[in-house]
This record gives sequence, C-alpha cells and structure tokens, in this order.
Amino acid sequence: MTESSMDPRDYVTLPVFAETGYVVLDSYDQPADPAEWLDIEYVDWKSSGDTRFAPLASAYGDLECNGFWHHDPPKTDKDGVWVESNIAKAPHLKARAEEPGANIGRCRVIELKPNTYAEAIYNLHIDDNNRLNPEGTGWIVRGFFNLTDDSDSVMILREDRDDPSTETRVPLPAGTQVIIDTQRLWHAVWHPGPQLRYCLITSWEAGPDLDAYIGVRHPITRIESPELPAGMAEAAEAEVAERRAARAAATGTTTTAMSEA
Ligand SMILES: [Fe+2]
Repeated sequence: MTESSMDPRDYVTLPVFAETGYVVLDSYDQPADPAEWLDIEYVDWKSSGDTRFAPLASAYGDLECNGFWHHDPPKTDKDGVWVESNIAKAPHLKARAEEPGANIGRCRVIELKPNTYAEAIYNLHIDDNNRLNPEGTGWIVRGFFNLTDDSDSVMILREDRDDPSTETRVPLPAGTQVIIDTQRLWHAVWHPGPQLRYCLITSWEAGPDLDAYIGVRHPITRIESPELPAGMAEAAEAEVAERRAARAAATGTTTTAMSEA
C-alpha cells in the first residue's frame, strides 16, 4: 500500500481532528520543568529546515532518527523503544510523552535554527506517519510540546500546500501543546529567533486514551492566526515559486517527497 492510497477512514481516528486536522490544548507549565533538552544528545538528521534531533524513542532504542519503516525488520510508527542514554537525562520529557497513555512511536526533541517566513513556506511538508500501519488500528498523529518560549514563532499549517487561504499560524510560547494530523496538514515552523527553538515531538496512536487526554484540556480546533506583516505573504509566495522552479530545473522533477522528520 502506498501513502497516497491510504485513507484515514480505514483507521481509528478521533472526531476532534475531523474538521481542521489539529487541536490546541491548554498550555502546561513548561517553565516549572528543567531544561532537559540542553542535556540530551542530538544527531544530524535530514529534515525540512535547519534542524537537529535528539531521539528519546526510536525504532529499536538506538540513538538515531530514521523512520521505523526503514529498519530491519521494518515497523510502523508505534511501539517506539526508549533511547536509554537520553531518557536518563530527560525524565520529565519522557513523562510528558507518556502522559496521554497512548502508544508512542517516534519521540524526539527538535532543535530549529532561526528562519524566515518564506523559508518555512518552502519547507512545508507532510509526514509519513502511517506507513505499514495496519488498517483497523489507530491513525498516528503527532504531539508538539513547545519547550522554549517562542512567542513570536508560529507553527504554520496548511490544508493545501499551495493555497495560503488554508493557512493557520499557531503561536509557540513555552508550554504550548498542539496535536496535529501531520500526514494530512502541510506544516513547518517559522522561527524568527534569535535563539534556537526546541520542541518535543511524539507520535501517538489515536484511540480512547488520547481522546480522553485531549478532552479534559479544553481542545480548540480552530484558532485565530496572528497577522503577518504587510506584504510578507505575497513576497514569500513569489520567493517560494522561484526556489521551486529552480529546484525543478535542477532535478527535473516537481514532486515533493514526504518528510521523515
Ligand atoms: Fe513534519
């Protein structure tokens, strides 16, 4: 089965995601937690944007970030194995990931360098979360816990990559919790900086446990996006069109691969 033939309706999904594909929950008190993301070990991993990742759970417990489906034997994005050396230094982050009680697949901290809005739009991608996921089981969605206080940064979400009118921008103060169907929504973060941004990303299996977790945290499924500075959207669309055309000319293709981040 290819991703393009996958239909979430063949899986257990949560009604809260039906309309918009994302849900913003009550923020948690991140400043009360230690800054464990500064203590753990990062690895270079190809992704959209200028990033590094620190795996907390990987396919078989190694310090690496490959998609579970690339391993031998391959597996779907469930039953992640804790990376002992990192969780020993990050018990609070592990506990955050475990709080919903849902099955955990990939779990990692992302480190993102400052970028521009146009770069974020260029980096919009969808994730390959459900490859090898057996029909009839829970659809994989991903939780984003913003660790650093990035109030001027936004998670950009688009239903249609090339249609700015479908865009939502979720501000990212410390403690922001957003759960996203990242195989449905195109996404990338615009992070003006100047500091590095850190975020805990966890793959969770949709089911009763995740539903209950969401239900008691005042879920909001449609937020009002902060305004962009005048002219920025138009300038970004033009810049992105130019970059995509240059890439297509260089590679002879216009296809966009799914990200493994
Ligand atoms: Fe992604």
